Amino acid sequence: MAARTIDDSYRPFSTRFSRHIRSILGGAGIAATVALTGCQVDEEYVVSLDEQGADTCEELDADAAVRGSVGLSDYRCEGAEYYGLDTVEVVSEDPEFGECTVRATWVHDPELSALCAPSPPGTAVDGRPLVVAEQARVATLRRGSRWSAAVPITGLELNDTQRATLAKRWRVAGLYEHASIASFARFTLDLMVHGAPPELLLAAQKAAADEIRHARMCFGLAAAYGEPVEPANLELPGSSLPLSESLVQLAVDTAKEGCIGETLAAIRAAEQLARAKDPAVRTVLRALVQDEGEHAELAWRTLRWAVDTGGEPVKVALRAVFAEVDVQGFFEAGEVDETLEAHGLIADADVGRALRRGIERVILPAAEVLLG
Ligand SMILES: [Fe+2]
Ligand SMILES: [Fe+2]
Repeated sequence: MAARTIDDSYRPFSTRFSRHIRSILGGAGIAATVALTGCQVDEEYVVSLDEQGADTCEELDADAAVRGSVGLSDYRCEGAEYYGLDTVEVVSEDPEFGECTVRATWVHDPELSALCAPSPPGTAVDGRPLVVAEQARVATLRRGSRWSAAVPITGLELNDTQRATLAKRWRVAGLYEHASIASFARFTLDLMVHGAPPELLLAAQKAAADEIRHARMCFGLAAAYGEPVEPANLELPGSSLPLSESLVQLAVDTAKEGCIGETLAAIRAAEQLARAKDPAVRTVLRALVQDEGEHAELAWRTLRWAVDTGGEPVKVALRAVFAEVDVQGFFEAGEVDETLEAHGLIADADVGRALRRGIERVILPAAEVLLG
């Protein structure tokens, strides 16, 4: 394991950060000694030649036709599993109706399948999760480089397997960061519905812009290690995003997604930064630690306002949220060698340890100050 260096950017574990959060909440000086942190699917599609601008099945761009029919995506969730588009072939044609039957093969991708699974609070730890019906939503993916910021990694020492592993890790991070943009858009509307002050709205708008930058940096890293991919459609049930029904609900969502989700996102990024050596990866991680820390701060400020505005019913609901925060059962296995750590990958077990520390040292003490 790489030697850990703790520097100024390692804010989420610092006493300074802990004091800062607690001072925002009105508890400066209290508890000053507490440190803060397989398989495959074949599917057939009947494609109209007319609609695809082709005269014969031979002329048909079958690959584009399939991706068009599934929202331009090369990847998709099926149940709780994630599949990537593998092969496309024309299997039959019906000249009378001007149609071709195209078979697509989707290959199971176990590493990305976590994206399809429901995410309890605290487990989606790349940016602020976009939670709809208790499930963290992300966009589908397609090939493309419009979201890839130029990130000049080194990495001559990496073999193909290591590159593929890193590309997937940063692709997943990019998807969650991309979803965070929508999460902040909804958050802004929620704040407006409930009459929040302008400083919270300003911070929410800045945070959404930060998340666009984060997504571009993460997709940039994914492209540097593997093929360039970008987010396609962000599918939402009924093409809508429900807002919070009450101030209590807004406070509960903010606690889960911001105070827990983004605090843990900052902690995870800090843990990655402590081990990363590639200069470009370190630059990305420094930005993530800094910004996610600020986003966590925004969430705690929001709860301060919600408690001051809504009083006891808000407090009661928040106590229930913080009483349940736990990452037990997640992030417990696995080892990662130093080569991958140098490029921002860390073992699940190390993530789990850092997050549990963050809950004990940052989240629960801050909640205690807020709720008394
Ligand atoms: Fe982010
Ligand atoms: Fe964030």
